[in-house]
Amino acid sequence: MLKSSACAALAILMAFAGAANSEEKAEMVKKGAPAYRICAACHSLQPGVHLSGPSLAGLWGKKAASVDDYGRYTEALRKEDLVWDEDTLNAWLADPQAMVPGTTMTFRGVEKDDVRANLIAFLRRAMTEGGTVKVVKEGLVSERMASGPVPPELSSLGANQRITEIRHCRDGYFITTADGAKFPFWETNVRIKIDTSLRGPKKGEPVLLRSGMAGDRVSVVFSSLAEFKNLVAEKC
Ligand code: HEC
Repeated sequence: MLKSSACAALAILMAFAGAANSEEKAEMVKKGAPAYRICAACHSLQPGVHLSGPSLAGLWGKKAASVDDYGRYTEALRKEDLVWDEDTLNAWLADPQAMVPGTTMTFRGVEKDDVRANLIAFLRRAMTEGGTVKVVKEGLVSERMASGPVPPELSSLGANQRITEIRHCRDGYFITTADGAKFPFWETNVRIKIDTSLRGPKKGEPVLLRSGMAGDRVSVVFSSLAEFKNLVAEKC
């Protein structure tokens, strides 16, 4: 009798401890979510969306550098034989360069132990298979933060941004758009880019994006490298 009531008391105590523990964990996840903002500058939590860094979706418990369709891993990370969990992420996020010298994750690290622990509690939820939808639904991060800085859709821009002719002469680019407007730009103010993704410009239709306050700086985005070579002529 005595023994069984002691057992019951112990069971209740353990249940309490368990509840406190999971409450504590939920609190850590909540506190850690805002710290994810800094990661969202380079990563998406949407599966298959690779930005400067690979998508973090479903990486919890996976081998490092194992996302097949992310083609820009460094040799340094590839040759590490590690699996992403609390311990490995703790070392990685404290100082990526110290853990994997030569990595291109140019992020100096989360210095404070408690901030890092909370962030990792959040990542455990977010980076587990199906976690992206959960963390957005639970209001831990906005949809936008979960998506990351996905480049704008360039395949359906207006005539004033679709380029029909581009030539280079001396130190300038001379650009004509589909609405007939012609612009001269100093070559130093023109960023030449390629967006080969589905969001990129249509084939044969590079686009003009204005940037900066003065309006004299632009990006010209092509759908492929070949297109850049074929469409830009040196002609004065
Ligand atoms: C400046 C951009 C940048 C920031 C900020 C950044 N990362 Fe990264 N991250 C990268 C790049 C690039 C890689 C690939 C590194 C390599 O191949 O060496 C990477 C790799 C990773 C990996 C390994 C992926 C894999 O498939 O093995 C994880 C995990 C990761 N980052 C998590 C984070 C977290 C969490 C944060 C925020 C605390 C963060 N990163 C901040 C750019 C960034």
